Amino acid sequence: MLRSLVRETQLSANQFILPLFVCPGGKIRREVSSMPGVYNFSVDEAVNEALMAAESGVRGLILFGLPESKDELASGAYAEDGIVQKAIRAIRKAAPDLVIMADTCLCEYTSHGHCGVVREKEVLNDESLELLARTAVSQAQAGADVVAPSAMMDGQVGAIREALDSAGLHEVAIMSYSVKYASAFYGPFREAAESAPAFGDRRAYQMDPPNAREALREAELDYSEGADILMVKPATIYLDVLKLIRDRFDLPLAAYHVSGEYALIKAAAQKGWIDESRVILETLTGIKRAGADIIITYFAREAAGLLDQQ
Ligand code: PBG
Repeated sequence: MLRSLVRETQLSANQFILPLFVCPGGKIRREVSSMPGVYNFSVDEAVNEALMAAESGVRGLILFGLPESKDELASGAYAEDGIVQKAIRAIRKAAPDLVIMADTCLCEYTSHGHCGVVREKEVLNDESLELLARTAVSQAQAGADVVAPSAMMDGQVGAIREALDSAGLHEVAIMSYSVKYASAFYGPFREAAESAPAFGDRRAYQMDPPNAREALREAELDYSEGADILMVKPATIYLDVLKLIRDRFDLPLAAYHVSGEYALIKAAAQKGWIDESRVILETLTGIKRAGADIIITYFAREAAGLLDQQ
């Protein structure tokens, strides 16, 4: 068909990364109520899901963990037998060709739900770096190809690169959540990952939505600290920022189509108000057209299936 021959933007499942939430136990598939079609999986079920994703052509996964217990120092994040570490090992074995990414953050593992170490209701940047670096090293030792720091602490990329290199993990790449806005669109994720902050919010360390030039400064810092992939998050609400980063940096660029963006489409589709399949493909195409090389999306499997039918 002529139209597909001259199409400027070609979407492919090769660019898709599927987020998975892994929880303790066995045979668990617990649907997240604000994200129909998204589940908390025990490791055995996460392996099944990973195999199906690989089968559909999805390139990789990004893993989030719901630990057995949480504490002030987020010890579940860097435990050798932590939930994400276990999932990485199991998935690596079952689906060796999938790219395995691990979200490197503390908020799912801290009792207060913040992304770093807290003292007197204050998130301490430098004290958090050491724990984030430990987390990244333990994820890489478990077999992650990519670690993805999302805590938005200053200096986290540099600290993680240094720690990975001194552990001999030179091959492991860093995908930095460089441009991460303090967004209301993360609401459903916090239900899925049980990571809503117990007090305050994340505005002290995440970016203010009206700012675009600041995004360049954030990306520049990560670039100079050795990031291998940059990311903009959320995606559709920030396509201008995505384009800006695309034009200024030559690193691979990821866009995270986040939980709230997913939930809006699912809810309208369930009401029969939109044509879900077309909206999914149009949305992901828009993200690609704006400049993303990698699209992280809860629709990864569904979209891969839709592309197959085209
Ligand atoms: C961890 C993290 C969050 C998301 C990805 N990594 C939550 C947050 O910052 O509150 C959000 C992803 C989504 O909404 O799908 N810090």
